[in-house]
Amino acid sequence: MSVLVTGVAGFIGSHVARALLARGEAVIGVDNFSEYYDPVLKFARLKPLRETKGFSFLEADVADREAMLGLAERHGDLDRIVHLAAQPGVRHSKVDPYIYVQTNVMGQLVMLELARKLGSRLQHLVYASSSSVYGANRKLPFAVGDAVDHPVSLYAATKRADELMVEAYVHQHGLKATGLRYFTVYGPWGRPDMSPWIFAKAIHEGRTIDLYHLGFIKRDFSYIDDIVAGTLAVLDQPPPAPAHRLCNLGASRSEDIVHVISLFEKALGREAKVELRPGEPGDMQETAADISATTRDFGWQPKVTVEEGVPLFVDWFKGYNRL
Ligand SMILES: NC(=O)c1ccc[n+]([C@@H]2O[C@H](COP(=O)([O-])OP(=O)(O)OC[C@H]3O[C@@H](n4cnc5c(N)ncnc54)[C@H](O)[C@@H]3O)[C@@H](O)[C@H]2O)c1
Repeated sequence: MSVLVTGVAGFIGSHVARALLARGEAVIGVDNFSEYYDPVLKFARLKPLRETKGFSFLEADVADREAMLGLAERHGDLDRIVHLAAQPGVRHSKVDPYIYVQTNVMGQLVMLELARKLGSRLQHLVYASSSSVYGANRKLPFAVGDAVDHPVSLYAATKRADELMVEAYVHQHGLKATGLRYFTVYGPWGRPDMSPWIFAKAIHEGRTIDLYHLGFIKRDFSYIDDIVAGTLAVLDQPPPAPAHRLCNLGASRSEDIVHVISLFEKALGREAKVELRPGEPGDMQETAADISATTRDFGWQPKVTVEEGVPLFVDWFKGYNRL
């Protein structure tokens, strides 16, 4: 039995792979080291995985049909997929829209074709969606039953397209699949394009942080260990019969961004310089996860508060960047 983890050199993928290996699973990792942010960080995440028994790695593009469908023959024991590879980032989808459709939509289609090829061998396809699918929704907290017809970025539209494609494949080909709507994940080995890294770097260097929506921003910051635990809890409980489920995975505590910045100031021992700016099209002003269905169905409950998580991230950030 082995698990395919795509985007394994990424933030969430590397943590998920590590947790799977730690419980004795065989993991097949795939990543193309996309240059959206410095691949050096991706190589560093991958290094300890490659040194762990049970891990094998293929450098490939998830949209490469031949390479991905070939995994079914090369790994006769492949029975689960955790598909996390993506072109992330809301703002960059205005700059380079094509890569979002190529990686997030074509890559998802290829994963679905791999799932179809694996047939009854496949126990569960788990894939990353995003809180961004809630887009312009005003009802808070966001619940999986809410309509999600108003994405405010191309990134969000590709994630919603992924969900709809899975829905169709489950109907046509009888797969067992679950989509995870992650909410602002942060923690050690995090992403340089996301706010926790941007805040830590700017405060350390004495540079100004631009705060959009004039600082009236709330985010459901979700600590990586909770997200890994949630991802594994879902993976381990496939639907009993072919079905497509969606789950919110978030801390379910919507935090005022100004409070979060104050935690960074405390952890770094320096004051932040902040410039208030109007809203950026594509950025959501507030996110908050309703996780009652995830807790009920999977027994998962996030544990780490931002007051605990921010200092843990800052410790790692200082060590990694030798500050
Ligand atoms: N981090 C978050 O807060 C968050 C929130 C919502 C959704 N997500 C989703 O979770 C998943 C993981 O996100 P992350 O934060 O770990 O991002 P990440 O960028 O750190 O990881 C994604 C990995 O996928 C790889 N990749 C990109 N294009 C690829 C391709 N065509 N073929 C193979 N590999 C490719 C990248 O090199 C990277 O290592 C993504 O699907 C993302 O959209 C993340």
